[in-house]
Amino acid sequence: MNSTPSSCLILAALFGSAVLGFAGFPTTLPVPTKPSAVAPAPGVASGLATVYVPDLSHAYEPMKTGVMTWNNLMQSDNVPAGSLKAEFVFAFTNISGRAFAITTVHPSCGCTTAKIPPLPWVIPPGGNGEIPISVNIAGKSGIVSKTVYLATERGNQTLRLQISIQPPVARQLSDVERAEAMAIAKVDREAVFKGNCASCHAKNLPGKNGKELYDAVCGVCHDAENRATMVPNLRNLTTPANLDFWKTSITFGKPGTLMPACAVTQGGVLNDAQIEALAAYLNSAIPPKLSPIKD
Ligand code: HEC
Ligand code: HEC
Repeated sequence: MNSTPSSCLILAALFGSAVLGFAGFPTTLPVPTKPSAVAPAPGVASGLATVYVPDLSHAYEPMKTGVMTWNNLMQSDNVPAGSLKAEFVFAFTNISGRAFAITTVHPSCGCTTAKIPPLPWVIPPGGNGEIPISVNIAGKSGIVSKTVYLATERGNQTLRLQISIQPPVARQLSDVERAEAMAIAKVDREAVFKGNCASCHAKNLPGKNGKELYDAVCGVCHDAENRATMVPNLRNLTTPANLDFWKTSITFGKPGTLMPACAVTQGGVLNDAQIEALAAYLNSAIPPKLSPIKD
């Protein structure tokens, strides 16, 4: 949208004045006898309306200091997996000593909505306001970053927000389910990647990168608090690790144990690119141990 701010501004200005114009001149509606329950928009005198015509000549300049203060121009939140939305409130004060109007409030995507009064929104000197922002994160994972572009008569400002969606917590298996899973894995160590087992052991893999891929495939076994004693902590291996070690472990697993081969070519779920990405991640996340010094 930043590439075409002019159309956006014109639309916002037209929309604002259309709404105000209609409210000011209710030609088709009967004139209410009681005072209207709807408060007039700031800048519009009741009775004979004067429509506020914003001066857009500074709208494209970044806002200078000393115009508005904000509770926080960059906000972040941590939300549990499966959350449908994340909500923020950006609160401001006009510290510039004179009134000015907010003329555009434009979120970076359709999934982000800002609740604002009709534009132009005139802020008197010393006046405060709040912009509640809601981001639809249904079906999203990882880190979601959004911006909301705000233009005013005194320059523009970008509000930034970041949402960290926590990884889903795997449902714990009952003792019976666990014993069954173990029995099945003992017969076929690749069973983890098949049928119902895959719903926990290979969940939503497409599009995942190093760390996310690790959590989704390896971490389910290796980072589980309740894991069986034979499942080692990968940050604590005695074998000196390097890129080849990780690639081989991922591709072939450990035959004769419960450690599955993870490559598609060996009955697993990871393609060459995913194996490369995962091995590179592990090689940097788990620094290779120096060989012990012999005395
Ligand atoms: C189904 C559970 C499970 C999954 C999934 C799993 N592992 Fe393992 N892993 C094991 C078990 C069990 C062992 C211990 C094998 C043994 O008995 O020596 C092991 C051992 C290892 C070892 C040590 C191998 C050695 O030479 O001693 C490495 C390295 C390893 N896993 C890496 C990974 C990586 C990387 C992933 C993800 C691509 C992964 N594992 C996924 C269960 C799992
Ligand atoms: C509901 C999710 C879920 C399903 C379904 C599931 N697992 Fe697991 N599995 C886990 C979790 C979580 C762990 C880590 C240990 C724990 O918390 O019980 C695990 C661990 C394992 C381990 C490592 C040994 C251990 O207990 O630590 C093996 C092997 C395994 N699963 C095999 C299977 C097989 C085979 C199936 C299908 C028959 C299966 N799992 C189905 C969640 C699941």
